[in-house]
Amino acid sequence: MGKIHAAITGVQGWVPETKLTNKDLEKMVDTNDEWILSRTGIRERRILRTPGWATSDMCAEAVKGLLEKTGVKPGEIDMIIVATVTGDLIFPDTANTVCDKVGAKNAFGFDINAACSGFLFALSTGAQFVQNETYNKVIVVGADMMSSIIDYTDRNTCVIFGDGAGAVLLEPRKDGNGILDFVLRGDGAGRELLHMKAGGSRKPATVETLAAREHYAWQDGKRVFVHAVKGMTSTCEEVIRRNKMTTDDVQWIVPHQANMRIITSVAEHLHFPLERVMINIERYGNTTAATLPLCLWDYEKQLKKGDNIILTAFGGGFTWGALYLKWAY
Ligand code: UT7
Repeated sequence: MGKIHAAITGVQGWVPETKLTNKDLEKMVDTNDEWILSRTGIRERRILRTPGWATSDMCAEAVKGLLEKTGVKPGEIDMIIVATVTGDLIFPDTANTVCDKVGAKNAFGFDINAACSGFLFALSTGAQFVQNETYNKVIVVGADMMSSIIDYTDRNTCVIFGDGAGAVLLEPRKDGNGILDFVLRGDGAGRELLHMKAGGSRKPATVETLAAREHYAWQDGKRVFVHAVKGMTSTCEEVIRRNKMTTDDVQWIVPHQANMRIITSVAEHLHFPLERVMINIERYGNTTAATLPLCLWDYEKQLKKGDNIILTAFGGGFTWGALYLKWAY
């Protein structure tokens, strides 16, 4: 009998309707469409404007769509993991709220905070429960409402980020398809270059932190850029090498969508053709934990059973990694 692997058996995304275009941003900060497009590859991003809605609502929409598509009933779900840095509240976690909102009465959930690598970390975590035969139906969501922590007077960050959610269903498979390997890395020293300065236990919210605009995402973009290229390239190389493949054996690379120049640079370093790299940054910008599942959702129709796919990401922490899977349907 074949070994059990956790396989993605469905994917669904959800993005808000409201578009924030480069032209819109021109009216908000000192920037222009030409700079944003040439330096980042982004034309527009989606922004959640539905009154009263937050990250869990985007997750719930993605999960409800996923259940409908896969024919799974809410009561059949065992566990939901949500990767996010913009949970509804500091506590409780967003995943349990999502279980409640989708009617997953027999499930429990928890959040994973690994910033832009969150989906990768959550997917590899969820896979363990399926592979070990603890659970049969695990949902992994990557979702962020970045607009809730973006300073729309800061042109270094506001042109990049957007809102969205993507969800996958993990189920056991014995046919050799599924999640086969992953390399996850971290370097806490990177916290200096990408973080939110206040709002946590180190610096709780005060009138001063608000006045200093410290409740927004902050990054040293240029330095993060260099680490991102290095981190994604090296973990992709490692996972390809240790699975005795070459890049010719890989049908798709799914990179975190932070900057088109990072994506191009990683592909160049790997000598991997850009036509087989999933890219949707132009339409959504950087949706943090949602970029990878949103890419899979966008490209789902082009995927074939048995395709070798490498997911890779880099984000705050620093956190980074690459995951190898064989597409299961
Ligand atoms: O997803 C998590 C990980 N995050 C990342 O991977 C982000 C990585 N970093 C980046 O994507 C890029 O560094 C940015 C898009 C954030 C910035 O692009 P850059 O090419 O590194 O720009 P820069 O910060 O070096 O700035 C170059 C110039 C500067 O002007 P001077 O000093 O050369 O006159 C900036 O002031 O571009 C200026 N600039 C802008 N101009 C127009 C910076 N932001 C903007 C802007 N519009 N939005």
